[in-house]
Amino acid sequence: MVVAVDFFFLDLNRTGNTSNPFGSRVTSVNNNQLSGLNTLGISLVHIDYAPYHLNPPHTHPRATEVLVVLEVTLNVGFVTSNPADPNQNNKRFTKYLNPRDIFVFPEGLTHFRFNVGDKNVVAFAGLSIQNPGVLTIDNVVFGSDPSINQAMLTKAFQVEKRVIDYLQAQL
Ligand SMILES: *[C@@H]1O[C@H](CO)[C@@H](O)[C@H](O)[C@H]1NC(C)=O
Ligand SMILES: *[C@@H]1O[C@H](CO)[C@@H](O)[C@H](O)[C@H]1NC(C)=O
Repeated sequence: MVVAVDFFFLDLNRTGNTSNPFGSRVTSVNNNQLSGLNTLGISLVHIDYAPYHLNPPHTHPRATEVLVVLEVTLNVGFVTSNPADPNQNNKRFTKYLNPRDIFVFPEGLTHFRFNVGDKNVVAFAGLSIQNPGVLTIDNVVFGSDPSINQAMLTKAFQVEKRVIDYLQAQL
C-alpha cells in the first residue's frame, strides 16, 4: 500500500522563519515528517540562522549528527561527558566551519552552534536514526512543566534564588 509520496518531502526550498529568541529554525525531516524513513536508521535537518544567532546547547539521545555548512561561517562545538577523574573538567571541542566544511557531533553529547557573522547561515545535518529526539538544556532544566524544585536548582547551580527565578521566567 506504500506509494512514492511516502518517500518524498518537498519543504526545504525556502528559508525557515528565524523570528524567535534563538534566531534559528530547524526544519526536521524525520519519520514524523517523512514516514518512508521509518525503521531505516537515518534522518536529516535543515537549519537557518539569522546573523549572530544560534542553536542553544542540546543533545540527541539517539543519534550522531554530521553537519555541513552551505553558506557562510558557523562556530560549532560539543562537550564530552563527565570524565572518570572528578578533578578534570568536561572537555570542549570547537571549530569554525566555512562553506562545505563538515563537523560531527557524537551521539548523546551536548552540542551548540553559533552564527558569529552578520549574514544568514544555512546548514544541513544527517542524523543516524529516523527519530533522533532532542533535549534543549535550557528547556529541560529551567523550562519544565511543572518546574524543577527551585531550592534544588539553587544548590545545583550554586546561585541565588533570584537567578533561578530569572532563568525560569525566560522560558
Ligand atoms: C518550492 O517547491 C514547491 C514544490 O515544487 C514549489 O511549489 C515552490 O514554488 C518552491 N518554492 C520556492 C521558494 O522555490
Ligand atoms: C515568523 O514567526 C513569527 C513568530 O512566530 C511570526 O510572528 C511571523 O508571522 C512569522 N513570519 C512568517 C513570514 O511566517
